[in-house]
Amino acid sequence: MDSVSKPVSYPLSRGCPFDPAPEFTRLRAERPITRVRLDFDGSEVWLVSRHEDVRAVLRDPRFSADFSTPGFPARMTVQPPGPGTFIRMDPPDHSRLRRALLNEFKPRRVEELRPHVERIVHTLVDRMVAGPQPVDLLEAIAFPLPILVICELLGVPYDDRPFFERCTAVIGDQNASPARRQEVRTELWAYMDRLIDAKDADPADDLLSRLTTGRDRHGISREEVAGIATLLIIAGYETIANQIGIGTLALLRHPDQIPTMLDPATSVGAVDEILRHQTIIAYGLRRAAVADVEVAGEVIRAGEGVIAVLASGNRDDRVYEDPDVLNLERVATDHLAFGFGIHQCLGQVLARMELQVLWQTLFRRLPTLRLAVDVDDVEFRDDMFVYGVKSLPVVWSPENEEN
Ligand code: HEM
Repeated sequence: MDSVSKPVSYPLSRGCPFDPAPEFTRLRAERPITRVRLDFDGSEVWLVSRHEDVRAVLRDPRFSADFSTPGFPARMTVQPPGPGTFIRMDPPDHSRLRRALLNEFKPRRVEELRPHVERIVHTLVDRMVAGPQPVDLLEAIAFPLPILVICELLGVPYDDRPFFERCTAVIGDQNASPARRQEVRTELWAYMDRLIDAKDADPADDLLSRLTTGRDRHGISREEVAGIATLLIIAGYETIANQIGIGTLALLRHPDQIPTMLDPATSVGAVDEILRHQTIIAYGLRRAAVADVEVAGEVIRAGEGVIAVLASGNRDDRVYEDPDVLNLERVATDHLAFGFGIHQCLGQVLARMELQVLWQTLFRRLPTLRLAVDVDDVEFRDDMFVYGVKSLPVVWSPENEEN
């Protein structure tokens, strides 16, 4: 494709379900920045595929993350994000809201959560081994784990957790109608509102209490507190769930590498390599230019949209040797799975810890864990933004179970 030919449509099609579209390899080599036509509305935007250019876009304040910026590649029907949804805001509002949470996601705080995450994982594995086989690992672990961790983080009372699990199951369900999802979001918002009242009256040692009682100090409104809590649920749920699904499948396909995940000295790096190789935010991150900016030799004009493809940058052979090989011993520093720049994932320390605890526990307790179906029969979900598997049927030999 040269610069005058018609732009290709986006997203590009995958060949192998475990790799981004093969076309990205050619684009990185020949046209690191190119025009594409978006399938969802036919609009044209720039596509950026190399590691260094993805980072250049994401760290440049001349690119906005706000849906309402002219040229932003958003569906016209998408409702504007509500108060507190700082993932879709630019400074200064973004900085004000993100700052209010920074302490909550620091490594020391996340480490305090580790014993709770370990307990949750063990309980889910106990429940799974007590039932019949095969088991869908998504249903048994990948979906409940992140939601129970968020309950712990926010301080959702135990009695309310089934309600919470029911609501988030609808949000994560691809077959739920838009009306049903909206209904559940409204219910969740109303629930958060009541929970904030309860935390105001009787603060406890949890994120929502600290945010609620500290809102004057942080300069955030009550509505923004509810919005932040809802954002954490949305951002920390489907991502972790799908990363568990596709990441576990990748591990099951490379059983010789599981010891690297089990060894405490190498498991953190192993988690990062899975994040690099199986980047679930496969579509890429969307931005709109608010000034003319040169990227990879082309000028992106103010009012034009850009998609920075994390999954392609993570397979860039200028940065990673044999980038298509999953090698859990690789030290995959600087990968882009959590984005880059001011919006880089706020929950990344927590995400790494959840994944590490899960995979270590799962493969230690069930060393014979394996797929219950042929890998060719696994169905992949490839909707707009998050990649993963639709289900993951697994079996194991009960005589090899450990506690
Ligand atoms: C494997 C799991 C996860 C992945 C792959 C992931 C990925 C990402 C990415 C790529 C972004 C950047 C979005 C952008 O620049 O437009 C992001 C932002 C964010 N993530 Fe995560 N995430 C994960 C887990 C979590 C968890 C567990 C939480 C919290 C409970 C979380 C909270 C957030 C928040 C609040 C933002 C917005 C940050 C900002 O705009 O400043 N994420 N995440």
